[in-house]
Amino acid sequence: MKDNKVAQALKTWTSRLRTKKEERNAVCHVPEETRSDALISVRNLYKKFGKLEVLNGINLDINKGDVVAIIGPSGCGKSTFLRCLNGLETPSAGEIILENEYVFKNERVYLKRKMRAMKEESKKTGKPLPMDEFNAVNEEYLALRKEEKAIAKYMETAINLHRQKVGMVFQQFNLFPHLTVLQNITLAPMKLKKVGEEEAKAKAMELLKKVGLAEKANVYPSTLSGGQKQRIAIVRALAMEPEVLLFDEPTSALDPEMVGEVLKVMTELAQEGMTMIVVTHEMGFAKEVATRVIFMSDGVIKEENAPQEFFTNPKDERLKEFLSKVL
Ligand SMILES: Nc1ncnc2c1ncn2[C@@H]1O[C@H](COP(=O)(O)OP(=O)(O)O)[C@@H](O)[C@H]1O
Ligand SMILES: [Mg+2]
Repeated sequence: MKDNKVAQALKTWTSRLRTKKEERNAVCHVPEETRSDALISVRNLYKKFGKLEVLNGINLDINKGDVVAIIGPSGCGKSTFLRCLNGLETPSAGEIILENEYVFKNERVYLKRKMRAMKEESKKTGKPLPMDEFNAVNEEYLALRKEEKAIAKYMETAINLHRQKVGMVFQQFNLFPHLTVLQNITLAPMKLKKVGEEEAKAKAMELLKKVGLAEKANVYPSTLSGGQKQRIAIVRALAMEPEVLLFDEPTSALDPEMVGEVLKVMTELAQEGMTMIVVTHEMGFAKEVATRVIFMSDGVIKEENAPQEFFTNPKDERLKEFLSKVL
């Protein structure tokens, strides 16, 4: 009898999961003709805070195994870009695609702008609005709006799932002070991925061993050094088995003697094939570990190249100036 109930519950649950998946497929799937091999595709990404334009059309494809270092002056939008990628900020326009599924899509703003321009033009010149053309744009706008709102609505429910795939490590570690190291690491796998406690703990211990901090499992974060905290934060992100890890200046808050131990962990991850996007001022890491280096300035990608070429033969004037200051 009891077994029956369990079986029934399991059946309902899997069928619900399937419906959710189908729902997602229907709403978020990128059309056949625009599918790609990229893990993440970012297209024409814009972000405004009120009138402040922070991202001004970012285009970038990240492939599995890429280690992308992003460098650029303070305030140019690096953190905002990473935050858009893992859903901590909502972009103003453009597309973010993860594994051929829309995570964010807003192209309708361009059509809206086009309609506004047509109206203004007609007002300015006194010529009547070309109604056929205007209505065609409007129709396209309405269709897009429906599609894009459905994606946004779906993503509201799927944001945790998205963050499981796109992990993030912050400058300030963001560990929970009232939880032990082990609890910090097992919390999300148990809550969000429904991993059993024993399994979550075993996995956490394995990862802690890897970064040389197994003996710290039961202490609280306040007893750790900055370098240790950041290694724990990396382990916490890894425990969710993300597809890609974002690092936002992971060593900037550290005393100089602790930078090395964190970079070492990151280097090992890179060598194991982890896909990583790293905003950093550590030019050594960018040169030696990254597979691609990107220079961001004024909310756009000004230059991208393989590390060797990037550092020895920069082309953009702003990049040359930037490198002359940091190298
Ligand atoms: N939530 C926010 N509200 C308003 N302005 C913001 C917000 N977040 C960032 N900004 C502004 O956006 C710009 C880019 O910030 P940020 O992405 O943090 O740059 P970076 O990481 O390259 O130093 C800055 O001018 C910053 O003040
Ligand atoms: Mg920043």
